[in-house]
Amino acid sequence: MAQGLPAAPEHDIVIRPSSDADVPAMVAIYAHHIRRGVGDVADDDAGALHPDDLKRRRKAMRKKRLPHLVADRDGVVAGYAYAVPFRKRPAYRYTLKHSIYVHHQHLHAGIGRRLLPALIEACAAGGYRQMIGYIDAQNEASLRLHEACGFARVGLLPAVGYKYGRWSDSVMVQCALGTGSGDQPATWGRPVEAIVADHDWSGT
Ligand SMILES: CC(C)(COP(=O)(O)OP(=O)(O)OC[C@H]1O[C@@H](n2cnc3c(N)ncnc32)[C@H](O)[C@@H]1OP(=O)(O)O)[C@@H](O)C(=O)NCCC(=O)NCCS
Repeated sequence: MAQGLPAAPEHDIVIRPSSDADVPAMVAIYAHHIRRGVGDVADDDAGALHPDDLKRRRKAMRKKRLPHLVADRDGVVAGYAYAVPFRKRPAYRYTLKHSIYVHHQHLHAGIGRRLLPALIEACAAGGYRQMIGYIDAQNEASLRLHEACGFARVGLLPAVGYKYGRWSDSVMVQCALGTGSGDQPATWGRPVEAIVADHDWSGT
């Protein structure tokens, strides 16, 4: 654990799959961070996440064996994390990108430190091999969290964001899952042709 940082006692945080009942709490966590994260978006609804969208997303992810987790702290949803395909094309099917959000009243209490490793573990167990994150270069908390959880900085995307009246850089981070590139992936029982045939390519 980091020196001098408060950490939540292990016993009051439970990491578990999210349920539909968690959706309002997750939407509220997201709404808080997205409002603060952009700053100059006039429309309050910009980037809003609607509960039905989140419910649909959860269902779609379950089908693909993708984890959608919450950190439950004494019965309160204190954070959530999930992973989605890195890219839609089948060549990238073993690679995920992820998101993690901790409730603003539970920040810096060790929630991220519990949630992110659980997400990594669940993704590795699902047979995925690489995990990618994009982090605002100014987001010290997220950079530190990811570094502590084994992510390496693999790229810098200059000026890809615009917020608070200025351009912002993104740092790309990556973590190998399981055996990473050390051996051949499992087949998952479905030939790639079937995955390609089933996929909706309209948005690709
Ligand atoms: C990034 C985020 C998920 C971290 O979650 P958290 O529960 O607050 O993090 P933890 O308490 O588990 O701390 C994890 C690490 O982050 C560091 N950290 C946490 N808050 C920090 C802060 N305010 N400033 C600097 N470092 C911080 C800690 O030092 C710790 O690393 P260490 O123990 O190795 O020193 C959280 O800040 C968050 O939800 N931010 C808003 C949304 C966001 O930015 N998501 C990530 C998008 S890429």
